[in-house]
Amino acid sequence: MQNYSVQPEALKKFTTAIFEAAGLKNNEAASIAELLVHADLRNVHSHGVLRTIPYLEKIQGGGASKTSTYPVIKETTNTAVIDAQGGLGALVGEKAVALCREKAQKNLISMVVVKNSNHFGMGAHWALKLAGDDMIGVACSTTDLTMGPPGAKEPFMGNNPFAFAFKAGAKYPEVCVDMATSLVAMGKCKDMEKRGKEIPHGWMLDKDGNDTTSVKDCYMMTTMAGHKGFGIALVVELFATLLSGGVLSPDINNQDLADTPELSSQCFACFNISAFRDLQEFQKNAEEYIDRLHALPMKEGMGAAKYPGEIEYGCKQINEKEGIVLPETLVEDLIKTGEKLGVDGNFLKETVTDRQ
Ligand SMILES: NC(=O)c1ccc[n+]([C@@H]2O[C@H](COP(=O)([O-])OP(=O)(O)OC[C@H]3O[C@@H](n4cnc5c(N)ncnc54)[C@H](O)[C@@H]3O)[C@@H](O)[C@H]2O)c1
Repeated sequence: MQNYSVQPEALKKFTTAIFEAAGLKNNEAASIAELLVHADLRNVHSHGVLRTIPYLEKIQGGGASKTSTYPVIKETTNTAVIDAQGGLGALVGEKAVALCREKAQKNLISMVVVKNSNHFGMGAHWALKLAGDDMIGVACSTTDLTMGPPGAKEPFMGNNPFAFAFKAGAKYPEVCVDMATSLVAMGKCKDMEKRGKEIPHGWMLDKDGNDTTSVKDCYMMTTMAGHKGFGIALVVELFATLLSGGVLSPDINNQDLADTPELSSQCFACFNISAFRDLQEFQKNAEEYIDRLHALPMKEGMGAAKYPGEIEYGCKQINEKEGIVLPETLVEDLIKTGEKLGVDGNFLKETVTDRQ
């Protein structure tokens, strides 16, 4: 199987054109393209343009509303509740981030929760937007049933992802803890399978609760750090679902159903650093903290310690210059999808690369 290297701006343009052809407004289509291509730039391919076809099917099947107005149904100076009305996670995310930042600029700490939403993609996209240069950004979401508490025979909740981001001085603009509460994200397993890579033992469980390495046989994901991952997933439920009055996780719909909204809930928060201390002092201190992390003595062959988000930020720096690596099967699928909508994607095959 060969890989192609695709320039991010061209990929964004293509992806925007696909969603526009599916009936979204240009700015809405561009927001989805930005979310997906951002994930590929950071090599979080599980949440990149791999999701174009499922998102498209969801829009075309009616599972993601094209007409939602994403109304704010309750609001204070620092908080808001938005009803996504079964609309797109990428679009309600844009609205929630803008509102959350505006409130924290005026009132220092803010939280916006969302109910009746769909998949919001890579958590880091939202946490980084919320953070900007001057805040701590937090984003989390419930998602469809993939995990249970230790020992459960049936899933009870999704692998609810959470992300925290901040800038630690000019040297480290994107410190970002972003993870699913399962040991790994399901999307990563699907992406690995698509790339012809073997999935390690211990990541997925079959119908009998036994370990499996086949996506086809996967019934549940293993929780991150056993009972602790379950506990954190429950905290996401608290902030996203229980505060918004959204649908409880056991009743969330499968995200792959084209005609039914997932009905997930989300929570976005901003902490304006200037509420606590001088922003420049914070940046200097945070930069020193990461410098000291990098200087930590490490075991032979391990390289320097990394801050959360460092690997992804490094990938973004490279991919912005050299292009995003997409596997042949994905490129073929995207071209076929484009053809059906009158969007030419043949340029995706222009540059064959050995990069993985
Ligand atoms: N929207 C949804 O419904 C949904 C559901 C699940 C996951 N996701 C997304 O899936 C993506 C992948 O999640 P994941 O759990 O597989 O992430 P991961 O395990 O790849 O990374 C988790 C975190 O660990 C950090 N990290 C990795 N290696 C490190 C190292 N050597 N040193 C220091 N830090 C290191 C990463 O920077 C990241 O912050 C995330 O973007 C998440 O938001 C989304």
